[in-house]
Amino acid sequence: MTDRRDQAAVRLTRADLDALPNYVPGRSPADLARELGLPEAIKLASNEVPYGPLPGVVEAVAEAVAGAHRYPDMGVVALRQALAERYGVDADRVATGCGSVALAEHLVRATCLPGDELVYSWRSFEAYPIIAATSGATSVQVPNDGGHGHDLAAMAAAVTDRTRMILVCNPNNPTGTAVRRAELDRFLDAVPDDVLVVIDEAYREFVTDPEVPDGLSYADRPNVAVLRTLSKAWGLAGLRIGFLVAQPQVAAAVRKVVTPFSTSMAAQAGALAALAQADEVHRRCALVVAERERVGEALTKLVPGVPASQANFVWLPLGDRSVEFGKACESRGVIVRPFPGDGVRVTIGTPTENDAFLAATEAALG
Ligand SMILES: Cc1ncc(COP(=O)(O)O)c(C=O)c1O
Repeated sequence: MTDRRDQAAVRLTRADLDALPNYVPGRSPADLARELGLPEAIKLASNEVPYGPLPGVVEAVAEAVAGAHRYPDMGVVALRQALAERYGVDADRVATGCGSVALAEHLVRATCLPGDELVYSWRSFEAYPIIAATSGATSVQVPNDGGHGHDLAAMAAAVTDRTRMILVCNPNNPTGTAVRRAELDRFLDAVPDDVLVVIDEAYREFVTDPEVPDGLSYADRPNVAVLRTLSKAWGLAGLRIGFLVAQPQVAAAVRKVVTPFSTSMAAQAGALAALAQADEVHRRCALVVAERERVGEALTKLVPGVPASQANFVWLPLGDRSVEFGKACESRGVIVRPFPGDGVRVTIGTPTENDAFLAATEAALG
């Protein structure tokens, strides 16, 4: 038996995890407000929609948690049926998860064995490399093009006989760029049939460019899966619920590897209530889009090369100045999301919040 003194030197966990970044919690607005002596601080760092839960959600969740001593429906039958009806597919093609980030992980688990390759654009959603690594898959990162978007031709060219899955983040987090129909058509035609293409559409509801296709229009292709979330436009980030639409065999494989009962009863009830509020979601998304255009226009005068966004955030390609800019915004009570050495992602908030962000930007860069 190892001596207690030597135990610190004993490795109990996988060495390859050392290469992954530790989770760094975002700055709490309450702490920042206290530090700055302000009544409140503004958080524009997590791509949430600022208008609170949709009408009926809080009541539905409260009613559901009265049965919190019971397990939730593991088959998520009612919610899968409601999603299937809303999106015009059979319920056996739908799987739900604890946020779409969990479903992305389940998809990798369902497609990749250790050493198999997962292709994605970079920079993109920061969870992708972590998901690949924890699943034992090999990340193949294809650099974004000069406009901060996916280079789909290069991604197709990166496919090898080890590639099992490709993630297309549309619109792309954190740059807000979106791939268009003609290029996606060409890409899907080029990808071999035995590679699963996952179109991650966490921000689909904010897309206004008619040339950016709805991923669901490709969902009848056997090797396409579409990931959506109720965290953003549908206002349920804290309840953790995402879903995917894929061929029945892929959806069934995901349901096999999903962590049992991970779609909680509160999430199921809240999601059902939210889905009844589609008109309100459209109204809120229109507000976000109007603000996105206003903020985007103001930013182009202050920061060169800001890409047009199709999501509920904007990307400032500030390179080495990103961290410093993040700190400057914080000093004025606005929390944004810097990616060191690369850029800063800023979520679109209410008009007042956006004005505060623009004032901070003007002060920092103007
Ligand atoms: C591109 C993308 N996919 C998936 C997710 C995961 O969202 P959730 O797990 O809240 O559904 C996010 C969240 O930021 C995202 O940006």
